[in-house]
Amino acid sequence: MTTLLRIDSSSRLEGSFSRRFGDELANHLNADRTIIRDLVKNPVPHIDVAAIAAFFSDPTEHGEAEKVATTLSDELLKEIMAADDIIITVPMYNFGIPSALKAWIDQVVRIGKTFDFDGQTFSGLLQNKRAFLIIAYGADGYTQGDFKMADFVKPYLSFVLNFIGITDITIIPIEGTNAGKEAEAETHAQAVIASINPHGQ
Ligand SMILES: Cc1cc2nc3c(=O)[nH]c(=O)nc-3n(C[C@H](O)[C@H](O)[C@H](O)COP(=O)(O)O)c2cc1C
Repeated sequence: MTTLLRIDSSSRLEGSFSRRFGDELANHLNADRTIIRDLVKNPVPHIDVAAIAAFFSDPTEHGEAEKVATTLSDELLKEIMAADDIIITVPMYNFGIPSALKAWIDQVVRIGKTFDFDGQTFSGLLQNKRAFLIIAYGADGYTQGDFKMADFVKPYLSFVLNFIGITDITIIPIEGTNAGKEAEAETHAQAVIASINPHGQ
């Protein structure tokens, strides 16, 4: 029984490259169960002061505000913990990730839940999960070219996933969606998807 968690973050519900290849990869992986988190249709709120207080304190000491603030985060954590595979579909916005996706990350990167700190070192707590990052870029030159240094999507997402223990990461870039390079990018993305083992591990 395999579980797929799919996270979508393009503001475009129609005509989105990242969402389209998310569909293709989800079909290819053919998981027994899929959990969908569409961060545009159902935005996750930014963490507030009650959430911060709650994340860094003992749950037995939580008042009503802290309990409310952790309810959604706990649900999002359950989803990521249940997943064998995680697809994150991402458009590059202003050289980084959409704020909708950052809000989700702020809810799931939690001490004692997805990472730990023993006073000296940090350790990721998630294990045996694969992540697939489908990243759509309007321009090209991010993988090899002049814009390599301007890609804050790939290194940021890879680092944060590693930080919480997800080290098996496949990146599927779709570059040049606004630069007449769609056909080339699509052929490349399809080839990467075809090379992925649906059952993994
Ligand atoms: C607000 C906004 C900011 C963008 N910033 C960038 C950028 O910094 N670099 C880039 O190459 N493309 C940029 N683009 C283009 C998108 O990355 C491109 O259209 C991509 O295909 C969007 O993903 P989607 O097709 O899944 O919606 C931007 C698009 C929008 C709407």
